[in-house]
Amino acid sequence: TTVEWDAEAAEKGGYPHFMLKEIYEQPEAFQRSLLGRVRAGQLYLSELEALQRSGALEKVRRMIIVACGTSYHAGLVGKYVIERWARLPVEVITAGEFRYADPLVGPDTLCVAVTQSGETADVLVSTRQAREQGAPVVAITNVVASAVTRLADAVLYIQAGPEICVVATKTFIATLAQLYLLGLFLGLQRGTLHPERAAEILQALEQLPAQIQRILDRAAAADDPIAPLARELAPLHSVMFIGRGVGYPTALEGALKLKEVSYIHAEGFPAGELKHGSIALLDPQTPLVAIATASHVYEKVVSNMQQVRARDARVIAVATEGDEAIREHADVVLYVPPTLEELSPVLAAIPLQLLAYHAAVARGCNVDQPRNLAKSVTVE
Ligand code: AGP
Repeated sequence: TTVEWDAEAAEKGGYPHFMLKEIYEQPEAFQRSLLGRVRAGQLYLSELEALQRSGALEKVRRMIIVACGTSYHAGLVGKYVIERWARLPVEVITAGEFRYADPLVGPDTLCVAVTQSGETADVLVSTRQAREQGAPVVAITNVVASAVTRLADAVLYIQAGPEICVVATKTFIATLAQLYLLGLFLGLQRGTLHPERAAEILQALEQLPAQIQRILDRAAAADDPIAPLARELAPLHSVMFIGRGVGYPTALEGALKLKEVSYIHAEGFPAGELKHGSIALLDPQTPLVAIATASHVYEKVVSNMQQVRARDARVIAVATEGDEAIREHADVVLYVPPTLEELSPVLAAIPLQLLAYHAAVARGCNVDQPRNLAKSVTVE
């Protein structure tokens, strides 16, 4: 007898696509991204010690984060937490803009280059430019010895494991982990973050892998709403995503996932911008996904959802477990476990990735290699 052997199927480990496999690898990927850095509420970020000893960090008065695509969205979450914890002004700029912007960068500017592949051309050019202008550089990447590491004074490896699918999933949340650790490190070092608060945040970070697992286990259950919802969205032309605070980059990432893998037009924007134009697009055929997890801006997001429902558009909410009241304002609710507001994008991203995945499958798309996309964009 002969045994049929398909190398690719074996690599997918029983999953129909790498994207789904990598979505399900996220508890482990996130855990690995904290490995050696967080233990029992303590932070150990030896990667940054040499930079700190050199005195370069003491001169830093501002930060720029350069990145593209999903890494840019992670950077936007990074801005929010670094400003909050380290009280350092942060500008996040897409690398394709930075390099042509004649940027105001010098030794007082910490440049953080975020690129999971480490090879994105625009990020490399931008980083080189910042370095030439005297900025200390920290690279955040998943690929050991990739090009960006050669331009950096310090490297924070994402440690997510290889990501085969062109669409970034586990590297997104593991990149977020690095930005959280950087924010905590700078906050502690600058004395702007109380060590007790840092310990609480670290403990919340350590709980995330189990919470991600809970979302994934529920998504695999027969009565989970994500796959049926994706099938409902599959014939539509357009889906809008809104959020506020860290919910805004989460909305951008949800929209990017949906558009790149299912080719449904999707747009993410800050909830407060809705009535400044995009609300005109909403109708029964154009649903809105609202990131409405627990936060200091929760009520504001809910009031945006109410405005949308008054226009007969379907509303899908990503909300925190236990929030039953949200059902009054949404047609479908995708629940995620409770965590700190700052960390909520890690959990809120998961149902949005699954939504994009199932919509793409329902539309018969090439999930692991969407048309016109490459894993590393090494040309402009
Ligand atoms: C992610 O799903 C995209 N395919 C893409 O936006 C990607 O995040 C971007 O090209 C940046 O890649 P990098 O992190 O390897 O630099």
